[in-house]
Amino acid sequence: MSTNEEMIDRADVDDLEAILAVSNSDRDAVVSHVEQNCDVVFTWDYDKGAKPSLEKLYEKAKTSMWNGETDLPWDTEVDQESVVIANATQNSAEGFGLVDFDPSGTPFASWGDKEWLELMIESQNWTLSQFMHGEQGALVCTAKIVETVPWIDAKYYASTQVMDEARHVEVFAKYLDTKLSGYYPVNTHLKLLLDDIVQDSRWDMTYLGMQIMVEGLALAAFGFMHQMTTEPLLKKLLRYVMSDEARHVAFGVLSLQDYYKDLSDAEILERQQFAFEAAVRMRDRFLQQEVWERMGVPVKEAIELVMRTPSRQMFQMMLFSKIVPNCKKLGLLDRNDAWLRRRFEEIGVIQFEDWVDTGDEYEQFALNEQDLKASA
Ligand SMILES: [Fe+2]
Ligand SMILES: [Fe+2]
Repeated sequence: MSTNEEMIDRADVDDLEAILAVSNSDRDAVVSHVEQNCDVVFTWDYDKGAKPSLEKLYEKAKTSMWNGETDLPWDTEVDQESVVIANATQNSAEGFGLVDFDPSGTPFASWGDKEWLELMIESQNWTLSQFMHGEQGALVCTAKIVETVPWIDAKYYASTQVMDEARHVEVFAKYLDTKLSGYYPVNTHLKLLLDDIVQDSRWDMTYLGMQIMVEGLALAAFGFMHQMTTEPLLKKLLRYVMSDEARHVAFGVLSLQDYYKDLSDAEILERQQFAFEAAVRMRDRFLQQEVWERMGVPVKEAIELVMRTPSRQMFQMMLFSKIVPNCKKLGLLDRNDAWLRRRFEEIGVIQFEDWVDTGDEYEQFALNEQDLKASA
């Protein structure tokens, strides 16, 4: 059985020093090459609807397309300073949980409104940048699924998701470029995870890593931001993206559910470990270490302070509100003496296990007819 060192390069999941020791070494590179070790699979079985739940998703996807250029109100004036202040005010100064602790005696003691405002702005630039990078990860991974999945219904569906993800990268990039005030390179922990997913030779690992873990977390994070933002363009952008994302996570759940039933304990253990590794990498990425570097405060100390705040811990936990029920539905929690259940207990997220899973709830996220008519 793999140890923590083998899976996540450290014995203690919460070892902050070890987390921060990993940093992005090619921040200025324009491209990144990753070897993918998988077979491309053709199928000669063109029987459409052999997997009815996937066929239904495919048909749904065809009528749910929207246009990132014309369906969003890009003429909205966005004054980022006013927006972050309005967000913080509306959300009782909790924002992303950045500002609700007593700064005396800490590196933040000398900070005034100017620095806190700058932090909120940087934090927003960072968050949207990582969303954009994650979306490109999804674009690449779903193109890979088109190549590697053996079923025609899944190839059809995945091809619609490629288009969705292109649109998501496009709208986040445009929002960053035209409405915000800066850009961050991909976070190392996110990149490590994307590389792991792309490099794996087994087709279902792309689904597990991307559809279940990365997109499950994104759906929760987009939902949180959609709720808290006061900026109408971003609100609508997130609403539209979420309508697609819910379908994507459902695609993962519906594809893997049957497949995992037939895997051996040893094969399931590899999936459990992969899911745990992905969960830890995503937790690490949300420490937003690059923001603290840019703000010029000691990174470790800043993170220790911020992570201790109740609203931040709540946010951190909520990120797993989709992942845990989806892992349960796939049967990953309890196989092998509840291996993954114990790990999720360790990182404090098991309480979400009975929340609704996305295989069931994706239709609630769909855009209504009026939205789509307005887009036509
Ligand atoms: Fe996406
Ligand atoms: Fe997606």
